[in-house]
Amino acid sequence: MTKKIILDCDPGHDDAVAMMIAHGNPEIDLLAVTTVAANQTLTKVTRNALAVATMIGMHDVPIAAGCSRPLIEEIKVAADIHGESGLDGVVLPKPTVELEKIHAVDLIIDLIMSHPAKTITLVPTGALTNIAMAARKEPKIIDRVKEVVLMGGGYHEANASAVAEFNIKFDPEAAKIVFNAGWQVTMVGLDLTHQALATPDIVSEIKAIHTETSAFVVDLLAFFRDMYKKGQNFDAPPVHDPCAVAYVIDPTVMTTKKVPVDIELNGTLTRGMTVADFSYPIPEDCQTSVAVKLDHAKFWGLVEDALRTIG
Ligand code: BDR
Ligand code: CA
Repeated sequence: MTKKIILDCDPGHDDAVAMMIAHGNPEIDLLAVTTVAANQTLTKVTRNALAVATMIGMHDVPIAAGCSRPLIEEIKVAADIHGESGLDGVVLPKPTVELEKIHAVDLIIDLIMSHPAKTITLVPTGALTNIAMAARKEPKIIDRVKEVVLMGGGYHEANASAVAEFNIKFDPEAAKIVFNAGWQVTMVGLDLTHQALATPDIVSEIKAIHTETSAFVVDLLAFFRDMYKKGQNFDAPPVHDPCAVAYVIDPTVMTTKKVPVDIELNGTLTRGMTVADFSYPIPEDCQTSVAVKLDHAKFWGLVEDALRTIG
């Protein structure tokens, strides 16, 4: 049985790898890729999504553009990590895949409402604006979604302030809506994704796959490595977003822990923090889990297998 997902993203170097693992893994039925402003403007990330889809031969998956700014915040993109284009450091093909005319929020709603209940997992790897808007526009989707597995947040780690992660800090109100909607949320946050390092050994393995797409990923990881060295002093870059897809493919790729998580909106120093309460006992109605420990070899094995399948 394949796992149906909608990938809501902002490509983005690691979002591009998330698209690849979703497209290249036979267990995933990728129903749509939807885009949201965050790493760069909506126009840029949408163009990048279409270009990556073209690159990997993903012609049969609808791609729709969503929200161009956060609900309340001003837009503050991450050019310091992803460059001016949102995917600097690689040569992108001219997109031949066409953009759907429907808004991403409506496509998400239509797909969830037209599939059997509890069969679709939402996988957001950017700001949560589209997902929050969809939940507000058609609240019936909340009971119909199987689960939300998102890349964002961190219970100890942060990268956009002392305590907040970029995707959540970009649109904290949207995150508040998504974390409190009532559906199951698995937060694949920085505590986990900072373990998903593209070490030199991993880059060599990807290079050895020897395809156009693997060469593209090598270039993409080289740019990401330099930006992460400069901006955050990482020796090898953490490749966040495909971790969320990997969890849907094979939950044994990481350990998770059920704990209540909520979003701080009002703290002058802590706005956008994902506050996880590890105190005992965990409430029985707890709907949120956090990712804790990654099986590094298994994760990169899934990425590399997907690249081989893409060819
Ligand atoms: C997240 O922020 C973005 O820059 C990445 O694409 C990832 O989704 C990591 O904090
Ligand atoms: Ca992202």
